[in-house]
Parts: sequence; C-alpha cells; structure tokens
Amino acid sequence: MAPLDMKPNELEPYWVPFTANRAFKKRPRLFAGAKDRHYLKPDGTKVLDATSGLFCVNAGHCREPIVKAIQDMAARLDYAPAFQYGHPKVFELASRLALLAPGDLDYAFFSNSGSEAVDTALKIALAYHKARGEGARTRFIGRERGYHGIGFGGISVGGIVANRKQFGNMLTGVDHLSTTYDRSKQAFTKGEPEWGAHLADELTRLIALHDASTIAAVIVEPVAGSTGILPPPKGYLEKLRKITADHGILLIFDEVITGFGRLGSCFASERYGITPDMITFAKGVTNAAVPMAGVMASKGIYDTFMTGAEHMIELFHGYTYSGHPLAAAAGLATLDIYKDEGLFERSRKLEPAFADAMMSLKGEPNVADIRTVGLLAGIDLEPIAGKPGLRGYEATERMYHDFNLYVRVAMDTLIVAPPLVSTESDVGEIRDGIAKVLKAVA
Ligand SMILES: Cc1ncc(COP(=O)(O)O)c(C=O)c1O
Repeated sequence: MAPLDMKPNELEPYWVPFTANRAFKKRPRLFAGAKDRHYLKPDGTKVLDATSGLFCVNAGHCREPIVKAIQDMAARLDYAPAFQYGHPKVFELASRLALLAPGDLDYAFFSNSGSEAVDTALKIALAYHKARGEGARTRFIGRERGYHGIGFGGISVGGIVANRKQFGNMLTGVDHLSTTYDRSKQAFTKGEPEWGAHLADELTRLIALHDASTIAAVIVEPVAGSTGILPPPKGYLEKLRKITADHGILLIFDEVITGFGRLGSCFASERYGITPDMITFAKGVTNAAVPMAGVMASKGIYDTFMTGAEHMIELFHGYTYSGHPLAAAAGLATLDIYKDEGLFERSRKLEPAFADAMMSLKGEPNVADIRTVGLLAGIDLEPIAGKPGLRGYEATERMYHDFNLYVRVAMDTLIVAPPLVSTESDVGEIRDGIAKVLKAVA
C-alpha cells in the first residue's frame, strides 16, 4: 500500500463529523483497509479494532460472503424504486428480521441510519395514536444521557447536553427520565446494577404531570451506549414496560447498538425478556458494510394503519434508499454469518471473560469506574483538572499513533465493543493494549 502522502490542504475540504477538525487535520488518523479484527493504516500497519468500528462491524471486517453478496447485487440490481415497487431481497430480509424480533414485532420499515430509524419510530408513534383517534398523544419521554442519533427528533428525546445546546428548541413537548447511572451506588459493576430500578417510577410522576392522554411514547436504549455503557438496573426495564402498557403509551427500545448480538442475543429485548412496541435497529444488521437501519413494529401498530381505501398510501414516510438492494443483500449475508457461526451464542459465552478482563483494569492510572454488559464496556477516566475531554483526546491520539489500537473515546470515557468473533485471548490483547494507553496518558 502507498505510504501516507497527504498534505494538510488536501484534508481541509472534508468537514469531519463529531471530530475536532483542526487537531485532526494537523495529525490525521486514517484507516485505508480492514480485515477481520484489524484496521490497516495507509502504510499497511495493523490496528486492533476494539470497538467494532462504531459498534457495528459485529462479525469482523470485510467478510467474504458479505463482500460477494454486495458485489453480486451491484451487478444485478443497482437500485429499485423504494416507493410503490420492491425487489425480492428486501422482502426476504424483512421476513428474516420478523423471525428474529421478539413477540409480534413482525413488520420492518427500513431507513439508512439509526437517526432516521429513530425519526421513523417517533413518527409512527404519532400517526398510530392519531389513527386510533387519540391525536392528543404527541409527547415523547426520553432519558438523560440517552443517545438517539442526531436528527431533530433524536436530539430532542436524547439527553446529551452537547448534542442539544447548539440547536435551539427542537421538538416541543418532550420530557426526560433521569439517567440510571449513579457512580456512588454502582461503581465497578459487572452487568446490570442492583441499584436504580426505582428510577423507572419517575415515569409515573411524569404521567401524573402531563396526563397519559398526551403521551405518545417512551424511548430508551436498553443499555445507554454512546454515553459510556450504562446498563439498566435490574428490574428497571420491566417497570417501564408495565407502566407504559398500563397507560396506553408505546415503548420504543432503541437497539441501534444493542441489536445483533452485542448482548448475547439478537436483541437486548430477548436478554431482558421484554417485548417493546417498536425496536429501532441499524449498524450490525449489515455488519456496517452498507448503510441500513430500520424499525421493527408490532402487528397491532401495523394493522392500525391498514384501513381506508386500498389504493391509498397508509403512512406518508419513507426514504429513496429504504431497503436498498445492496443493503438488503448485505443484510441477508450478515444474518447468515450470525447464524452459521453462532455469533450471538459466542458473544453470550464470552461475556464473563470479557467482563473479567475489562474489570481487571481497575487500579490502572486514573480509572474512575468500569461498567460491563454483554460485549460492551465503558471505562471512565478522571479528567485532567479543568480540561474535560483532554485525557480522552490524548488517549485517542496515543492509541492510533503509538499503540496501533482503536477504541472509541467519548470525552474521558473509553468504550470497548470487540467483534463477536473475538476469543478470550483476543480480549486479553485488547485489555493489555488499553493498560498501556492508560499508563501513557497518566
Ligand atoms: C442508540 C442509538 N440510536 C441511534 C443512533 C444513530 O445512528 P446513526 O449514527 O446511524 O444515525 C446511534 C448511533 O450510535 C445509537 O447508538
């Protein structure tokens, strides 16, 4: 591979998302290739991928069956109109997803990103209530420290201050539950913490405040991912399910990260034995090889729309690339890999060793907390005094340039999510790499 030969000016025109552009362009971090558990730098150096890209390359990089499926489809059907027409593979994929989703979540609506999936779910919730003659149900309840992508709907129900404060008023009528994380009660917990189920009772308070007749849906991630891996306290999600059901409020699980094996089952809903009314998914559905996302909706929701004149569109919503042929082909090949290689079970079996490995970083310099669940771990570092985010940024730089390791860093938190194909020794390699980085940024 050609050596890295890029001058700062050539980097300038690209406005890099969620990135410190000026610092990045002075010393860029580029990946030019990938295979299995590694990225390749432009000079060919291998970089260990400890976060499966952005929690999405669950089966490892550039898997041949997926590559082949995409190539074949590109040559056979580059595009079919998404509205009023279809193509066979997208129906096959929807049918496969309906089998994998819990309960009667039997209908798949496709989008291209998790953010669009969230917008789709919120819009379905509003239109569903309207179709049932309860059009006053327009409020949404999200949660502090929730991440639901970056559309206006997603940042409104999301609870990340930095993602909200630049953008004005957003959706009206949104309220938030408290975060379920309290370090003083939960520090260094493996799996779901004992403390915190009572925080779901806040929903009862919010219902009393707004009245159930004004609330369309509650949306939460079963495990908050992007804000540092915050597993749900034991019993918390069950309570949310009961309260929402008792009040005719839809429950949306945003499984963009937790879907497709991250927590040892296809969806986190299965791990927790809870069937929400809708699930948003993305990322792992195609192993990230082609963008695809969507919403699984219950039969009850779908049927509510299937009234009126048959020639009329029932839901005025969709994307040019909903169910794109290349994405559908990639999705089917990905689901085959998950099944044939038993990757959800492998993930479940690896969870205890992964939790032990991550927890053994306790005691390394500046480690303030570690949380693990499934094949996810959040490692909080003490911020440098007066400079929040700087230690995390230095970790990002040192990992790439000095240690050939990639771990997603959010402010001063390292987020680890190894591919589901990892072994115990792979997890040990990640652990040892992180330990070196922590010493380096001490
Ligand atoms: C829970 C959750 N919802 C939504 C999104 C947004 O997905 P995308 O970046 O594909 O728009 C993400 C992305 O990480 C996510 O973690």
